[in-house]
Amino acid sequence: MSSSEVFNWKLSDYIFNKNYNFNRQKILDVCGEETIDDANKVISGWENYKPTPLLNFEKLSKTLKLKNIFYKDESQRFHLKSFKALGGAYAVEKVTKGNKDITISTATAGNHGRSVAWGSQRLGLNCKIFISEYVSEARAVEMRKLDADVIRVKGNYEKSLEACINESKANGWKIVQDVAWENYETVPKLTMAGYSMMIKEISTQTDQYITHVFLQAGVGGMASGAIAGIAKYFKRIPKIIIVEPENADCVLKSIDKGTLQKVDIKKESIMGGMSCGEVSLVPWKILKESVNCCTSVPDDNVAKTVAMLNNKYFCNEIIIGGECSTPGIISLISTCENNVVKKKLEINEKSNILIIGCEGDADEELYMNLLSKGSNQLSK
Ligand SMILES: Cc1ncc(COP(=O)(O)O)c(C=O)c1O
Repeated sequence: MSSSEVFNWKLSDYIFNKNYNFNRQKILDVCGEETIDDANKVISGWENYKPTPLLNFEKLSKTLKLKNIFYKDESQRFHLKSFKALGGAYAVEKVTKGNKDITISTATAGNHGRSVAWGSQRLGLNCKIFISEYVSEARAVEMRKLDADVIRVKGNYEKSLEACINESKANGWKIVQDVAWENYETVPKLTMAGYSMMIKEISTQTDQYITHVFLQAGVGGMASGAIAGIAKYFKRIPKIIIVEPENADCVLKSIDKGTLQKVDIKKESIMGGMSCGEVSLVPWKILKESVNCCTSVPDDNVAKTVAMLNNKYFCNEIIIGGECSTPGIISLISTCENNVVKKKLEINEKSNILIIGCEGDADEELYMNLLSKGSNQLSK
């Protein structure tokens, strides 16, 4: 890769956490060790379970002059093509406890709903999924294929969640949501414990100590689940960097102020699963002291990064990475272009970086569009 292709990638914003104080026990008090152990036991017992690959981006680490860049490829998570397969389906199994007379419901940007639909289908349960007007029809089709009833709601994600809560109350359905609110914390904790599986796997996939982890955030469930995994499974604590879309930087704003902040999303990001205006309550308890740095990135380089993954720019494998797989890479490259942040985070030739490739072509149509747009940009 020529350096001109990575130069000039800029972070939209960044902040360092004044309240940083990583405390393993405090984190594991929020997302309990027993739950994490149980998630590991249950999920690794599912048919066709196998750890997703941990790839080494040897080409990119050479370009950026880093020791290693590891990429956890969640495009291969069961047949659901995203890490979300670990959370929702596990939560469905735990909350229903073998009871077949339950209707499960949820609101989703796509991947969480697919996981809940899959979990419900496996257990023979009815499933109602609420989606906003911004969720693509391709994603709805995938959930219907898993026997879910998909209900489209006018407005954004918050509106779909509102409709889900109201309808579920009226009909006695059991909500399996990945977002926490007051008095609704158990299920989000279960989904986080499911996500911690990624870290459990990584802890046995390399003998290198990870020095820096880039974690994508929407409402913060994935990031905090991964951090709980780090608290439990990693011997050394890496520096933790959050990445969000510039128009939905609710974790960054909250960490900056030290209290939960709402962001009014003016323009939905192409990284749809991460276009969230509010941090979930349980993740916040973990994120507020365990994150070193928060970054935000524009949508500009998403298509190009999708094409680079597919065209072996980072390593010798063809990687199918959807829109939400790109921000960790974009943030890392942009951080390496920013001497202040790079130095403060001590990113250098001894660094072993971990990036989470959250999803594959979960939305095939969008993926093909991004790939074609990005390939055109690369060939210019
Ligand atoms: C596909 C997808 N959806 C959603 C999210 C956001 O997860 P959460 O809302 O748990 O922070 C991510 C990654 O951050 C993602 O890759």
